[in-house]
Amino acid sequence: MNVKERTLNAKNAERKVKKYKSKGSKFQVLHEDGVIYETEETSKIIDIGIDKSCQCVGNKINCLTAKDWLKNQLGVWEFYYEKRDIRDKTVHPATFPISMARKVIELFSHEGELVLDPFVGSGTTLVACQDTNRNAVGFDLQKKYVDLSNKRLSNQQLFNSSKQLAILDDARNISQHLKPRCVKLIWTSPPYANLLNRERKNKSRRDRDNGQLGKVEQYSQDERDLGTLELEIYAKQMGDIYESLLSVLRDDGHCVINVPDMWWDNKRITIHISLIEELRKRGYEFRNTIIWDRRNVVNNIGIFGWPSNYITMGTTFEYLLHFKKPK
Ligand SMILES: C[S@@+](CC[C@H](N)C(=O)[O-])C[C@H]1O[C@@H](n2cnc3c(N)ncnc32)[C@H](O)[C@@H]1O
Repeated sequence: MNVKERTLNAKNAERKVKKYKSKGSKFQVLHEDGVIYETEETSKIIDIGIDKSCQCVGNKINCLTAKDWLKNQLGVWEFYYEKRDIRDKTVHPATFPISMARKVIELFSHEGELVLDPFVGSGTTLVACQDTNRNAVGFDLQKKYVDLSNKRLSNQQLFNSSKQLAILDDARNISQHLKPRCVKLIWTSPPYANLLNRERKNKSRRDRDNGQLGKVEQYSQDERDLGTLELEIYAKQMGDIYESLLSVLRDDGHCVINVPDMWWDNKRITIHISLIEELRKRGYEFRNTIIWDRRNVVNNIGIFGWPSNYITMGTTFEYLLHFKKPK
């Protein structure tokens, strides 16, 4: 193989590159034609605000009043969907409500600070950041979700000083896009290992044939998609991603992850335990478990397991796991 000195334009590089590795300030690119090119590494760092724009002083962790703080002390949260929420599973199969994103964002950041969603999906986090005047960046592997996120942002007629954007890239590459220690809050609902990557059986629903029956509601079969991985490999790869995110998280930064547990072949798959254990191993301090009480949004429950097998309905609650970067 011959080595050619040349500068590649970014588009060409993206289309043709198979893999690359850094070599000092240069950067080696193996093209599909088998030739290795060397190119100067161009900065991918995103230009976005990170400093608080509110008047809060001292060691307050958010802009909330004492009265709001009191309400947030409850460990069980309930939310309602609004018109702007995306509930159509064909648009995105797993979204959370804007009101939940807003509550987490208001609890763990100040106005103007930077929020990161590593698995942004339909962009709910970004919409909530636009509403609450936080800067925000979200990443997703799927172009259709990045486009959807950016479109939702452009639909809003809000004029505030903050900026929100969705970027097409693997969460494994986020530290290449952000300056060290610039993120105040990492908030997301990640893929749930490969637990959605199978045909839906709708066993606990009264109206089993509801249009979702027999469908696979997984985002993609891309091998980088965490939703294709077995639980053990998934937990390790989530650990790798979150360990790399420690470098972009501020020293007083927070991290909140929304996950359910699931049933698989009559076994309880405790995704939340795997994630708590893995993130602790990677240097995060686990602080709080919050329960998202979903009873108000679950309907048409059918009888399931009776009379011999007691199984709680997984869809009635989910976890919000709160971590901090330790001092
Ligand atoms: C549970 S969804 C997020 C939904 C989001 N909270 C919302 O309200 O729309 C998880 C997202 O992670 C994306 N994803 C999976 N693996 C990824 C990876 N390695 N890097 C970036 N995004 C990934 C999927 O495409 C999917 O959109």
